[in-house]
Amino acid sequence: MNETRRAILEALADGPVSGPELAESLDVSRAAVWKQIDGLREDGFAIESGSTGYELRDVPAYNGPAVEFELEAPFSIEYRDSIGSTNDRARELAAEGAADVAVLADEQTGSRGRLEREWSSPSGGVWLSVLVRPEITPAQAPLYTLSAAVATTNAAREAGVDARIKWPNDVVVPVGDDGDYDKLVGILTEMEGEMDRVEWLAVGIGVNANIDSTDLPEGATSIREEAGDVDRRRFVQRLLETFDEYRTDLESVVPAWRELALTLGQRVRVERPSGDVVGEAIDVTEFGALVVETDDGERVTVSAGDCEH
Ligand code: BTN
Repeated sequence: MNETRRAILEALADGPVSGPELAESLDVSRAAVWKQIDGLREDGFAIESGSTGYELRDVPAYNGPAVEFELEAPFSIEYRDSIGSTNDRARELAAEGAADVAVLADEQTGSRGRLEREWSSPSGGVWLSVLVRPEITPAQAPLYTLSAAVATTNAAREAGVDARIKWPNDVVVPVGDDGDYDKLVGILTEMEGEMDRVEWLAVGIGVNANIDSTDLPEGATSIREEAGDVDRRRFVQRLLETFDEYRTDLESVVPAWRELALTLGQRVRVERPSGDVVGEAIDVTEFGALVVETDDGERVTVSAGDCEH
């Protein structure tokens, strides 16, 4: 969204404003105001012109300009109704030098999961990839994934879902009291960089939002199933705002993660290429690695792997 449109929406958010007033406060011509209002209407904003001036009556339910409107985080939104994979698009944008862009789609036709698994992305979900260029080392990169997990879990909890985090970054909903769970969110972070410097990170977040149980894979759940439909515009805004807070205060990520973790205290099996680790998950390190106490009392720190409990 261009700066004039953003400024017009900000002005209209406080009530009706006349064309001449807008032109003066934005230091543009009346014709320019009219043209931008026309563009906003094409984007789906219901702007009426009455005796008191232009009045914002309604905001589009879910598209790029709608998510950017009132978003309190410095991300621009690239929205598609349908896309292959938002992570693939974020990679293209990274190659073009972009930063702080969130690619958002209603549906993905070629989405990718972790460890080359499939990920189902029907219309109604929140399929999002956030492209950032942080000044961190690759060792700190997992903190960005944990930030996304915490931000998404918080947004889901605000939507009324009992969301918790399964190490390292699945957001799940407990089923019963036996430690079972259904998966609500998956996160796939991809990066490029050198040994001592990250160039970019694309944090891909897939949220089963307003999706019927019949359209979900086995072992998955959705916000619709757990708590009823969520306003995706607000959900994405809250997610991005909280993600932004954590990425600018990385020391606060792990403590927040611990508070939401389902994994700590559970008996886990972590599959790694070098062999499985089985025992009780007792903590996470400052960089988000899982500390497992094995049955013979040894403490093993696992920085990556597939965790079951
Ligand atoms: C997982 O295997 O749990 C991770 C799933 C990640 C899916 C998201 S949806 C948005 C982004 N685009 C993709 O193609 N994948 C990620």
